[in-house]
Amino acid sequence: MAFESFGTMRVNEVGHLEIGGVDTLKLAQKYGTPLYVYDVALIKERARGFKKTFEELGVKAQVAYASKAFSTVAIYQLMHEEGLSLDVVSGGELFTAMKADFPAERIHFHGNNKTRQELEMAIDYGIGCVVIDNFYEIELLADVLQEKGARMAVLIRVTPGIEAHTHDYILTGQDDSKFGFGLTNGQAEEAIRRVMANEAFQLIGLHCHIGSQIFETTGFKLAAHRIMEQLVVWRDSLDFHAEVLNLGGGFGVRYTADDQPLPPSEYVRAIIADVREVAQGNALAMPEIWIEPGRSLVGEAGTTLYTIGSRKEVPEIRKFVAVDGGMSDNIRPSLYEAKYDAVIASRPLEEPDETVAIAGKCCESGDMLIWDLPLPKSYAGEVLAVFCTGAYGYSMANNYNRIPRAAVVFVENGEDRLVVQRESYGNLVQLDLPLY
Ligand code: LLP
Repeated sequence: MAFESFGTMRVNEVGHLEIGGVDTLKLAQKYGTPLYVYDVALIKERARGFKKTFEELGVKAQVAYASKAFSTVAIYQLMHEEGLSLDVVSGGELFTAMKADFPAERIHFHGNNKTRQELEMAIDYGIGCVVIDNFYEIELLADVLQEKGARMAVLIRVTPGIEAHTHDYILTGQDDSKFGFGLTNGQAEEAIRRVMANEAFQLIGLHCHIGSQIFETTGFKLAAHRIMEQLVVWRDSLDFHAEVLNLGGGFGVRYTADDQPLPPSEYVRAIIADVREVAQGNALAMPEIWIEPGRSLVGEAGTTLYTIGSRKEVPEIRKFVAVDGGMSDNIRPSLYEAKYDAVIASRPLEEPDETVAIAGKCCESGDMLIWDLPLPKSYAGEVLAVFCTGAYGYSMANNYNRIPRAAVVFVENGEDRLVVQRESYGNLVQLDLPLY
């Protein structure tokens, strides 16, 4: 590939790939591979960029990090430091956030099947709001709140019937979705009626998320427009006044040169223009706008380092170059046919002289990281750096073939800091109980 850098990434004096002022070969040597490396400065730049755009537009907002993209104590601490809010989708993410001392009032709880225990946890921690997803949850949450004599701020998640241009598996805004209440089929209105009728809830607004890895503003604008128009109707018919409109995440990033995302601020500007237009045209109070970027905050900031091992050449068909990780640390190529770019960390600028397929080490033919990567001739022991692995890499890591999960290191200003240890073989068996 033609080397195109992300964030602080550069080629250093000795010709090696450097991130955050640290030589990636040194990182591989110090911590072993596979290794997820995060460029902290780039994460901060993105977080500040979103916040600044809202400030410039004079719009009250919350930028909530969609932490399913990468959920660890360290990233929660960093997002807190940057003044972001947090979207969690499970008791596990919530627990991790509490371990990081994330302010509970800035945590929003999502999910299409939150359990009673998870809702109890959310109430006990005093989180900011629950995003109600379905009728069952209205009953369940009302019951738990009544039992605890508590109240909870809630958003109602609606599916606005918008299809975003992205991979089918990650579409969530269309009508045929497991998430949310349909806006057009009357279910959203029914949900609002039920929630408003119950004292245990403080209905603060609506939520929608139209999909992921979106490169255009059209879908966001359509969704914002449609919901705002509906809010005008419900103001008049139900006396419902939304203080908050949460428009989710899904802003695209550049996995390969084929991806041409807009700068994050463009999405925000486009959304706000539509919300404003409908608000002003109908004398509707401008709601506070919340967004939930995941991938666009951490995706491009992450690079995975692997060590190259075996090579298999199938004459006239393919050259397989295998690395010491694979679908255990990045399941996205197998699951979504996701594409990635990579370079040899010791000589990223060298011209390619062959096209290879980067194979993982798992016992599965589909465990391929990149199918056709132009690369200079590579050798066992060299370090391969795969770009843009910061979102949904570590968070979807697994122990298939009992491969221990990789370590995570943050780099910034020439310093590296281990934030997740490499799993050990001992960790792998710690929950196993012997039969005899
Ligand atoms: N908000 C909600 C309600 C969501 O469901 C999601 C992602 C986000 C925000 C953040 O979306 P982002 O900005 O990260 O695109 N595992 C898949 C992605 C699944 C996304 C699910 N929801 C992947 O690896 O591409």
